[in-house]
Amino acid sequence: MKVFIKTYGCQMNERDSEAIAGMLAEQGYSIVEQENAADILIFNTCSVREQAERKAVGKVGIMKKLKKKKPALIIGIMGCMAQNIGDKLLRDMPHLDFVIGTGQLHKLPEVLNSISEDRKQLSLLGGGGEVLTSMGTHHQMPDAKKYQAYIAVTRGCNRFCSYCIVPQVRGREISREIDDVVSEARELVAGGVREIMLLGQNVAAFGLGGDTRPPPDGVSPFACLLVELNKIEELYRIRFVSPYPSYFNDKLINTLGSLHKVCHHVHLPLQSGSDCILKKMNRQYTAEKYLEIADKLRKAMPDVTFSTDIIVGFPGETDEDFNATHEMMKKVGYDNAFIFKYSPRTGTPAAEMTDQVPQKIKEERNQILLKELGECALAHNKTYVNSIQEVLVEGPSRRNAKRWSGKTGTFKVVIFDPAPDTEQGKLVKVKITRSTSATLFGELT
Ligand code: 5AD
Ligand code: SF4
Repeated sequence: MKVFIKTYGCQMNERDSEAIAGMLAEQGYSIVEQENAADILIFNTCSVREQAERKAVGKVGIMKKLKKKKPALIIGIMGCMAQNIGDKLLRDMPHLDFVIGTGQLHKLPEVLNSISEDRKQLSLLGGGGEVLTSMGTHHQMPDAKKYQAYIAVTRGCNRFCSYCIVPQVRGREISREIDDVVSEARELVAGGVREIMLLGQNVAAFGLGGDTRPPPDGVSPFACLLVELNKIEELYRIRFVSPYPSYFNDKLINTLGSLHKVCHHVHLPLQSGSDCILKKMNRQYTAEKYLEIADKLRKAMPDVTFSTDIIVGFPGETDEDFNATHEMMKKVGYDNAFIFKYSPRTGTPAAEMTDQVPQKIKEERNQILLKELGECALAHNKTYVNSIQEVLVEGPSRRNAKRWSGKTGTFKVVIFDPAPDTEQGKLVKVKITRSTSATLFGELT
């Protein structure tokens, strides 16, 4: 049987799809790149904004035609949207065979067996912590980068930011055991992986037992994990996403600065630069505290680059609040930012707030911040020109296969002409000759 898996949303979803693919491959299924070639279509979905849900619903809707032509086709939705509105999806789309929520993904092989025998719609939306231990398999997905792998170290979230549906659809935060993560990393590296990205909705809360109070100075199980991973020979790079700002205490910051495999790029979700909006968002830091953390990180790693998540048009966001966010962007000088228009999510406190911001204003604010980001990244990328960068080679570039691409530790894409012996997964030195806001170009040295 051939399975096609389409993933929407964040890296955690990509990791889940990959674990599912690995599990299915072990059972004799083959993973295919084309939906037309598949006997089973699985959509791994996202609920974080309405648009993500709409996209997936639209896509699964279109599959009705394919199913008419191929009645034996099995179609399923898994992940956050399944968890959020799974039973409604089954009612609205009779051509849909199953929905599996985030807590029972590991049961997918059983679900497929049972549907093959008895074509009844199936819904699995309960479950919880089990998924953490049973989802350890890895699989090289057709579109994934070789030599790079994701490891999920925490799942779920206890923070309850007032706009966010994640705690609702992914449940309470749970961490894996440190030894478990290290042995998964060792196995991946033995199989050729050179860069590991640690994942968690609140990754730096790893090992804190779900306590939402930021840890006191001197306590950071996440830093201990990084120390252990840094010891793995043949592993070149360690990245992680997404950390909540308050978890960067001195211990973690000093550890980041001292471990040579930890990349000098930090994704530091800001959400808003206005203290009043941060409070309404239930984010437990102020703009000043955020800047203090960014400054400390910069002291520990002078070449560090920052990326962030920002929401514009949160309920009650005034021009003044928005300007505070704009000012923060200027102060921090992000190299990348994911700027989102606030999207009300049923069941979250912010969706009930009465002072919703009109769509037009959200659009305008979004454009202003995108422009700011472009200018900042352009100016910063210019400073790389004439420098020599260590680049992890990813392979032929998407636009022009004759040129190759890779990334610096600071997460900059570098395009260069390969030498005959240039290999994927190796570190090379590239002299940067020119730059745009998104890319650095250079020559092997
Ligand atoms: N509307 C818009 N953006 C959101 N995010 C989370 N929930 C919402 C929402 N309701 C954004 C946050 C988060 C990122 C993953 O998605 O910025 O950091
Ligand atoms: Fe959502 Fe906040 Fe948890 Fe991030 S920290 S997943 S934004 S609730």
